[in-house]
Amino acid sequence: MARKFFVGGNWKCNGTTEEVKKIVTMLNKAEVPSDDVVEVVVSPPFIFLSFVKSLMRSDFEVAAQNCWVRKGGAFTGEISAEMLVNLGIPWVILGHSERRSLLKESDEFVGDKVSYALSQGLKVIACVGETLEQRESGSTMAVVAAQTKAISDKVSNWTNVVLAYEPVWAIGTGKVATPAQAQEVHSDLRKWLKDNVSAEVAESTRIIYGGSVNGANCKELAAQPDVDGFLVGGASLKPEFIDIIKSATVKQ
Ligand code: 13P
Repeated sequence: MARKFFVGGNWKCNGTTEEVKKIVTMLNKAEVPSDDVVEVVVSPPFIFLSFVKSLMRSDFEVAAQNCWVRKGGAFTGEISAEMLVNLGIPWVILGHSERRSLLKESDEFVGDKVSYALSQGLKVIACVGETLEQRESGSTMAVVAAQTKAISDKVSNWTNVVLAYEPVWAIGTGKVATPAQAQEVHSDLRKWLKDNVSAEVAESTRIIYGGSVNGANCKELAAQPDVDGFLVGGASLKPEFIDIIKSATVKQ
């Protein structure tokens, strides 16, 4: 079965109630390809999850940007996977590079989080990606393979996992990976899944690209055979997010 195009909007730590309402109103009015062509998931900050879920059109889903690594309890400031399930939030983004670097989340910790979130019934957008220094030293594939291995070590069923390749040097910088650069890593990641997990998982797992995706560069990226969609930061707060969703039609 063909992999369904996937577009995620990561709002990061942005938005007021008024701004959130405006974005949702804009999305609700948009004409986009049907949900058998593209799966759309938006990820507001925790505090707006229920609000966004209650206002959002029913063909778009909602994701949290993080969750706690195990069952909830005495973990001040954390949000557990069980709570997200209880609120009816189907998706969570885990292992984003901003959390890996700023909050020192290790590969193993991210692997544990992915495993626990899946065990609770959440679907996971798991992020991997190399820094500029790592790319320039030629270790891109070694880095993303180690990050993916830490996940695959803890995960036996990949059905509910979307893998997001987000090169750190492209995030929020306006310096998007070229279609060839994205395709190369996506294809290598798919091969890694084939060699280390299974041919079926390699064939069926969506590998999406993130890092300075916008309305102008999305089509060329979407045309790459191993690019199965996007995880969008800055542009997901703007009307051009609709154009990015529409780039799904490139696959048809
Ligand atoms: P930008 O699209 O703002 O570069 O962010 C990408 C990202 O980090 C999505 O998770």
